[in-house]
Amino acid sequence: MAQENEKEKVVLAYSGGLDTSVCLKWLQVEKGLDVIALCGNVGQDEEDLEYIKQKALDMGAIASYALDMREEYAEGYLTRAIAANGLYENEYPLLSALSRPLLSKHLVDLAHEYGAKYVAHGCTGKGNDQVRFETSIKALDPTLEILAPVREWDMHDRDQEMDWAKTHGVPVPTTKSSPYSIDDNLWGRAIECGVLENPWNEPPADIWTLTVDPEEAPDKPEYVEIGFEAGVPCSLNGKEMPLLDIVKELNIIAGANGFGRLDMVENRLVGVKSRECYEVPAAQTLIMAHKALEALTLDRETQHYKLGVEQQWATCVYYGQWFSPLKMALDAFCAQTQQFVTGEVKVKFYKGNCTVMGRKSPYSLYDFGLASYGADDTFNHQAAKGFIDLFSLPIVVWSAKQGAGAKEASAE
Ligand code: ARG
Repeated sequence: MAQENEKEKVVLAYSGGLDTSVCLKWLQVEKGLDVIALCGNVGQDEEDLEYIKQKALDMGAIASYALDMREEYAEGYLTRAIAANGLYENEYPLLSALSRPLLSKHLVDLAHEYGAKYVAHGCTGKGNDQVRFETSIKALDPTLEILAPVREWDMHDRDQEMDWAKTHGVPVPTTKSSPYSIDDNLWGRAIECGVLENPWNEPPADIWTLTVDPEEAPDKPEYVEIGFEAGVPCSLNGKEMPLLDIVKELNIIAGANGFGRLDMVENRLVGVKSRECYEVPAAQTLIMAHKALEALTLDRETQHYKLGVEQQWATCVYYGQWFSPLKMALDAFCAQTQQFVTGEVKVKFYKGNCTVMGRKSPYSLYDFGLASYGADDTFNHQAAKGFIDLFSLPIVVWSAKQGAGAKEASAE
């Protein structure tokens, strides 16, 4: 609790951009709060986080942090996303959805450290990210109060924000603003707004920064071998590396070969469909390779059942339920399945494509004798007849008693 005439405190998720800079000042001016700014480095394209940290202090924040969260992001979040082959609506690798709970965790930690009553974010009222921040914060500490200035204030466009910023001494960007809304981190880049709002418009070339145009990609294919240990990527071309470095490296290699572009219309949690473009070279490569290794090492029933788990996992994470009983239970299921997902996958990049060219594992369930049609065949062909007799028995009984349906179906 704040002492008398001491101000209440708020911890703000601060990116250094116009929105959150205006938020920082607005919380001081309009709410009379002391602001603690937190900028998380999750691998976004922002070389100067120290500058961002200082900028918050210059605007009157009582404390400011630029925390390197990349390793924690890779080890605690991306590992789980890979285990679950996490793709929302079978496509989007969840880059924004994965980073918000991590940032939320640090916001809550700082709030506790400073005895802050509030936590604030700069999300609009129309997106998914507000839901992810707030649901995560509530899960971690339901007593904290959440402020969302952008949702609350009366400014409706960038010009109004620029005016407010100028009159309140908030430094405004001098470079021309991008027509797009961009969110990026280690797991890729999300690009929306501007001409992309018309789903018929082809994405303009200038939205892409991690990937080259496949037409411009090298004429020679590039092979990469990815090693996995219990479901976690652990090496690249035979060289052991932490996941963080593997992701960084693969973003470069895959991107240079024009692989990792995604253009989709997705269903937001808040009810609207939106057109989003993503650049996710490492994410798509690692999930593809991981699936290939699972196909070799998981038994059939687990592999089939897991598909449903994966879809539910991705939906939970997209919906902001990172810290939820269901999502944690699904994590536990995925973790159990990863025990033997160890081995190597060989992929080939070529002009915007990535193709699995080979896979191997000491725990492979692929049995050459059983699979081969050659002289080494060990499969019991005679046993197949009895198997089919029993396997088809329910259908045989059905056909005899109610078989008209089958005949009708075949007549169509
Ligand atoms: N549609 C994606 C998601 O909901 C990306 C959101 C990107 N956020 C942004 N501020 N541009 O996860």
